[in-house]
Amino acid sequence: MNRIVYVNGVYLPESEAKVSIFDRGFLMADGVYEVTSVLGGKLIDFDGHAFRLRRSLTELEMASPISKNVLLEVHRELVRLNEIDEGMIYLQITRGAPNDRDFVFPDPQKTPSTIVLFTQNKPGLANNPAAKKGIKVISIEDIRWGRRDIKTVQLLYPSMGKMMAKKAGVDDAWMVQDGFVTEGTSNNAYIVKGNKIITRAKSNDILHGITRAAVLRFAEEAQMEIEERNFSIEEAREADEAFITSASTFVMPVVEIDGVMLGDGSPGNVAPRLREIYIDESRKIAI
Ligand code: PDD
Repeated sequence: MNRIVYVNGVYLPESEAKVSIFDRGFLMADGVYEVTSVLGGKLIDFDGHAFRLRRSLTELEMASPISKNVLLEVHRELVRLNEIDEGMIYLQITRGAPNDRDFVFPDPQKTPSTIVLFTQNKPGLANNPAAKKGIKVISIEDIRWGRRDIKTVQLLYPSMGKMMAKKAGVDDAWMVQDGFVTEGTSNNAYIVKGNKIITRAKSNDILHGITRAAVLRFAEEAQMEIEERNFSIEEAREADEAFITSASTFVMPVVEIDGVMLGDGSPGNVAPRLREIYIDESRKIAI
């Protein structure tokens, strides 16, 4: 594969793309990222991702190297150059590459941020067969840092969580803090009791998912009941249904938690309906 990627203002083949060994993203995970999905060659929830990116940068006192309009142009150009119909666009901004390793932030006037974007081609993303069957998760302790609302590239523990899930023969892991589910390793977590959708409220403990915001809005418009509160892993194992949301999975039913089957072990009614609504509505407003 020779994708065309974007590095600091330049489009070039991935084999020619380079960043410095002194880049703080590489040395210190001093960077933020976004993942935006593409359906029918158009961007889903671009405004939401651009807004959260700005927030992550502000929270870390990092300069933004790009305006929202240019960012949109770059996303669209990468979709065009790589002929993406369904897939994702990955964006990463780091605090740049000073000439040496130093814990102290470099002067932004002397060290510009590094910006990288690349595409991930995923034909069949909307029709993912996993959504028909649902996925299985295990629970693991949430030992991440305390600012999970900032979308940083510190993804070692989420990677370890995915590996724990893989070793356990399941698809993903839900993280638990003080007995309550925070979120999935790379997604927000929900349970369903009757017709009520329950998900943890926004705080520094979880990423404020862009898909979460859209799905809750669509659920409300469809007169579904929503409760934003903590739920324990025990409550989750006894729920009628469960699901996750993210830019790469949309709405994905969860049918088993820690080896305990939910309901009859099939995706149920609420999650598949929400998935359909989310994909249909998002396509309509994609840009
Ligand atoms: N992950 N929580 C965590 C910890 C995440 O990493 C993500 C996204 C989400 C869902 O956010 P959104 O709906 O905005 O995608 C929640 C992306 C997809 C990833 O790391 O690949």
